[in-house]
Amino acid sequence: MSHRILPAAILLLFCNAQVRAEDLPSSGVTTQSRQGMVVTVSREASEIGRATLNQGGNGVDAAVAVALALAVTWPEAGNLGGGGFMLVHPGPHQPPVFIDYREQAPAATTADMFAQRIGSPHREVGVPGTVRGLKLAHERFGRLPWKSLVLPAIDLAQNGFLLGPELAKTLNEVLETSGEFPEFLRVYGKDTGKGRWKQGDRLLQPDLAATLKILADEGAEGFYHGRLAELLVAEMQQGGGLITISDLANYQAKIRTPIHGRYRGYDIFSAPPPSSGGTVLVQMLNTVENFDLRQQGRWSPRTLHLMVESMRRAYYDRARYLGDPDFAAIPEHLTTKEYAAQLAKEISLTTATPSATLGAEILMRDEGTQTTHFSIIDGEGMAVANTYTLEESFGSRIVVRGAGYLLNNEMGDFNPKPGITNAEGLIGTKPNLAAAGKRMLSSMTPVIVTKEGSPVLITGSPGGRTIINTLFCLLINHLEYQFPPRETVDAPRFHHPWMPDIVTMEGPLWQQHETEIQRLRTAGHTIAPKPIRQGDAHSIFISTETGLRLGIADKRRDGWGAGQ
Ligand code: DON
Repeated sequence: MSHRILPAAILLLFCNAQVRAEDLPSSGVTTQSRQGMVVTVSREASEIGRATLNQGGNGVDAAVAVALALAVTWPEAGNLGGGGFMLVHPGPHQPPVFIDYREQAPAATTADMFAQRIGSPHREVGVPGTVRGLKLAHERFGRLPWKSLVLPAIDLAQNGFLLGPELAKTLNEVLETSGEFPEFLRVYGKDTGKGRWKQGDRLLQPDLAATLKILADEGAEGFYHGRLAELLVAEMQQGGGLITISDLANYQAKIRTPIHGRYRGYDIFSAPPPSSGGTVLVQMLNTVENFDLRQQGRWSPRTLHLMVESMRRAYYDRARYLGDPDFAAIPEHLTTKEYAAQLAKEISLTTATPSATLGAEILMRDEGTQTTHFSIIDGEGMAVANTYTLEESFGSRIVVRGAGYLLNNEMGDFNPKPGITNAEGLIGTKPNLAAAGKRMLSSMTPVIVTKEGSPVLITGSPGGRTIINTLFCLLINHLEYQFPPRETVDAPRFHHPWMPDIVTMEGPLWQQHETEIQRLRTAGHTIAPKPIRQGDAHSIFISTETGLRLGIADKRRDGWGAGQ
């Protein structure tokens, strides 16, 4: 049974073993349990995760069921036609395992094919990885039969679910600008595109239900071979895309070793390349560890300055060095304490370093801002942090005709113009140029923090390149300043991507800390308030003292925690 926690009680719960979980009232935003916990952006998906745990499934079973359910209930990012990363901590004192199911470039890809960025949206589609990734996770760790994990998603697609306010609004917005995607309008439009969705309307997806039934019966083979593969390839051929039957047949999810860092006695595990997430996050943590942040206030100009300077340097290295490790040699020093100490020495305590002086020749392009992250722990302590995406909101907006699912536009994460940079933010460095079979560089950063071998925090976020800084802010809140869980997630976030040389900040930060922000400006930082939220970090905190698991849904979007 799970329970809501009043804000004032949260800190108490994390300090006082006498508090009984059963005594507390309940909601999905802050939820606690002594057993399993699932926190996602979607209430239906979280409840399916909880039901999977209640049926005896473990954390990975729940993650598979949740990921498939999100492909139905959160179509802007939950997916079958995209890709992502799953980090699994199988149990106390066991090594974490990282599953890379990032999309990869079709065999016909060339480095300069995006140079003009014209041509069809079908060319932006990478070979989807999600179904192979989920199947690999299940083969390696799952306990319940695969089919039983697909059935709840089939039910949601076939019988529909009631739209929440956020999805109703987003669907209406995206439908307005999707005239060139008739299948998208047919599948997601209300009354064949004429109506407007409102909260409480039921969304039915019969084609998607039929696709999921094939996956239930045939597993991943049913997606990468046979009729579903033919439908995807027909969609590609009709729109000038590149993916072939053999691209699909050749796609494999990969097991990789997670990035590991240490910070203030905690072990941080996160995504290795082809995500930049873990590398950049650990580099930033290592850099600020050289300063006594705790002596300064969390929102003091000094702390903000040092964090921004660490962001600037790590994102610069991201642009210089990171790409698919099967194609580019990634330097090993980036996550070492020695390298961070050297970076820290170069940081002025009083003055901002202009980014241009760190690498004038390299600028970066924008990324989409829709992805989704969920966090799970089961009763025995198996923890899962999963972030996956279609890249932009609703991906390419190409729905595979007759199959009812959306395709990604992840090829846009490759550097588009080899060797060419410009003021609009293009980057042309080699490690992330497109090539046949290569995986495009990501910023997705699923994180599991452990203390003495057991998870204490499971987290991650959407947000394109801001993702890594969202996690940096969140870990500093909790590990350095010991903010309680709700405050850790709620606290305002900021982002500096090296280029453009601007700090963006969520509203409450610049509204409530005007004096500090002015000091930053005086030190040479360009500050731009960020009009919208930064990320959406659905997290689980585990108390080492009481064993309680707190599900903290990020209020920036309507997330939902479901505890056992
Ligand atoms: O892999 C990446 O880093 C991007 N394609 C993710 C895009 C994203 O996070 C959009 N999120 N809200």
